[in-house]
Amino acid sequence: MTLQEPTRPGISNKARELMEGINTDAGKDNIWVRTQMNAPSQRAWFADPSGTGTKGTGRVAIGQLKSAPCRWRWKEYKGYLDRLSRIAAEADVPPIEFADRQSILLTNPGLGGRLQVTNTIRCAISIYNPGDIAPAHVHSPNASRTILSAKGGYTNVEGERCEATRGDIILTPNGTWHDHGNEDKEPVIWIDMLDWPLMEFLDCAWVDQEFKPGIGSNQKSQATIQTNGYSEALYGNGGLVPTFVSHQRGWGHEPAPYIHFRGDQIRSALERLRKEAGDPHEGIQMQLVNPVTGKPVFLTLNYQAQLLRPGEETQLKRETCGTFHVVIEGKGKTEIGGQTYDWEPNDIFVVPNFVWRKHINTGTSDAIIYTVSDSTLLRSIGQYRAQGKDKAGKVIQLVQ
Ligand SMILES: [Fe+2]
Repeated sequence: MTLQEPTRPGISNKARELMEGINTDAGKDNIWVRTQMNAPSQRAWFADPSGTGTKGTGRVAIGQLKSAPCRWRWKEYKGYLDRLSRIAAEADVPPIEFADRQSILLTNPGLGGRLQVTNTIRCAISIYNPGDIAPAHVHSPNASRTILSAKGGYTNVEGERCEATRGDIILTPNGTWHDHGNEDKEPVIWIDMLDWPLMEFLDCAWVDQEFKPGIGSNQKSQATIQTNGYSEALYGNGGLVPTFVSHQRGWGHEPAPYIHFRGDQIRSALERLRKEAGDPHEGIQMQLVNPVTGKPVFLTLNYQAQLLRPGEETQLKRETCGTFHVVIEGKGKTEIGGQTYDWEPNDIFVVPNFVWRKHINTGTSDAIIYTVSDSTLLRSIGQYRAQGKDKAGKVIQLVQ
């Protein structure tokens, strides 16, 4: 006799009703009686070549959330930042005094209003008026700033003053003290990205803004111990790492000590490689790494930058990680789960896990896109997988 999937007789509504009856009684004891198969939100890749995603609807999966493709246009979200900035400029008490930040937070329509853009990533977009200061603090989530303004105020990380300009990425690894401000004449805007939702899920998110050794009384900001460009001088030398300093920053485990990646350096690194064939699914792409370990900058999030040449169209790809994109330069469109989203500079979009996507540069100049995903986390727990399609539409296992 061969083993076969047991044939299921018609499901008895009577039996189901009786089962739910037990549940009515058992609920008050925090017990639930299983009435059907677990209903995950994803189908197996080998059974779901379309990759448009499937959400479980069963009782076990009740309340289960699945991130959705989403795009936020600069010309739409900028208006809210301008309104915040105006209120702040005219208020007797600026919002930064009672809200700590002047930010908008992006929500994913698939995630029930939670303050997160993917399963693990939170994104805020902040505007700092001249004179604004976000006081020094430290937290367990890893965070970063991607600077959108031409000049981007400053972030002080563990005493290193980082003066930012457009396209820079400034890291505040978990456990590092940091404060922000704007001493320029115009408001500055940047994107904050954090693995906060993951830390919340694990119930290990914490913040401290009360105590900082050496900060001085009545001071909101850390004293500058190292001037602008310190981490770049130490670590921004292409494979050369200094031997005479500690690489430790703050309280974190393996904190990335190269904390200030310059936009123009990222741009020129991509530019130097633009004549290479690149990756059929990503174009010319580079990864931001911790120069001491060679690993991604955070143990959770992976930061990458990619260049797509005019007319370049990538092949379809899907991954088990969710990916957040920021358009730094250029014009194009991305197909996500069969839907097309066009984009231009400062637009932001999310490609959820398990969904096919491809990018097309429709402009006449290069496009530069920064991405952040939780692929680092997924790799470390043995759950990172990726598939691509070739030109004929055949599925290729990229990472099994
Ligand atoms: Fe922070």
